[in-house]
Amino acid sequence: MYLMKASADPDSRAPRLVEAAHAEAKYAMEVRSASLRFGSASREVQAFENVSFTIAPGRFVAIVGPSGCGKSSLLMTLAGLRPLTGGEILCEGKPMTKPDPDRIGVVFQEANLYPWLTAQQNVEFPLELKRVAKDERSRAAREALALVGLADFGNSRPHELSGGMKQRVSIARGLVQDPPVLLMDEPFAALDEQTRLTMGDELLRIWAKTAKTIVFVTHGLSEAVYLADEIIVMSARPGRVVDRIDVNLPRPRTHQMMSTPLFNQLRERIWDKIRH
Ligand SMILES: Nc1ncnc2c1ncn2[C@@H]1O[C@H](COP(=O)(O)OP(=O)(O)O)[C@@H](O)[C@H]1O
Ligand SMILES: [Mg+2]
Repeated sequence: MYLMKASADPDSRAPRLVEAAHAEAKYAMEVRSASLRFGSASREVQAFENVSFTIAPGRFVAIVGPSGCGKSSLLMTLAGLRPLTGGEILCEGKPMTKPDPDRIGVVFQEANLYPWLTAQQNVEFPLELKRVAKDERSRAAREALALVGLADFGNSRPHELSGGMKQRVSIARGLVQDPPVLLMDEPFAALDEQTRLTMGDELLRIWAKTAKTIVFVTHGLSEAVYLADEIIVMSARPGRVVDRIDVNLPRPRTHQMMSTPLFNQLRERIWDKIRH
């Protein structure tokens, strides 16, 4: 099943709505007593320790914590890009021990596009590696670019795109294999504030359309509260889960909500945990 729902009009690019995509597994992600230590016996860095949480399918979960607390390291292990030194990670009930773009897409702070390839070719690239037929990968990449609002920019090269647009291409590339889970590591941190806000709204729109499970790492407290259903708060290194917060702000989120008492209470609660 791909991004788009089959519709009466075969040419329709109408987005797929929430479907039984998540029907099978109880959790999209399950982290059990996960630890990660870097280095040798003489010089060790415990990045995070005894981290456990579950993420229900279709949820938007933010992970926040102070700089250096192991958020990026945790995301790398969630993505299967780095092995744990303790515990285990399951995605849709199955161990996550190596990267699997069919199950998990990843978006980093830098878009990391190949400068000599067009947007379309950049998004197709993971499918090319998998030797997906030309027609199929071209169609999938076009749909993914349309989903992120770049239908008309497939032939542009990265240097012709703004920072926000490059990050959209990167999101399209993360979604091109239609994984149920999208992991994002401070994806908008390198953007100016206005673009960051716009991209947040864009991401919520994409999330509502595709019903993905999103795990969004950020050190921005407001960004976490604005975007997420739930927030996992980590302590300073070695990172541990020190709080888990339900964000009971209604959806769709609006920028006005950022000046409400509830929004500020949630921000305060996170700040209070991080500060200590
Ligand atoms: N490849 C690595 N080798 C050794 N130490 C690392 C490596 N990557 C990260 N670290 C260390 O692990 C800790 C957590 O880093 P990181 O996960 O990047 O934190 P965050 O993303 O929360 O800022 C830091 O002290 C960092 O220096
Ligand atoms: Mg980081």
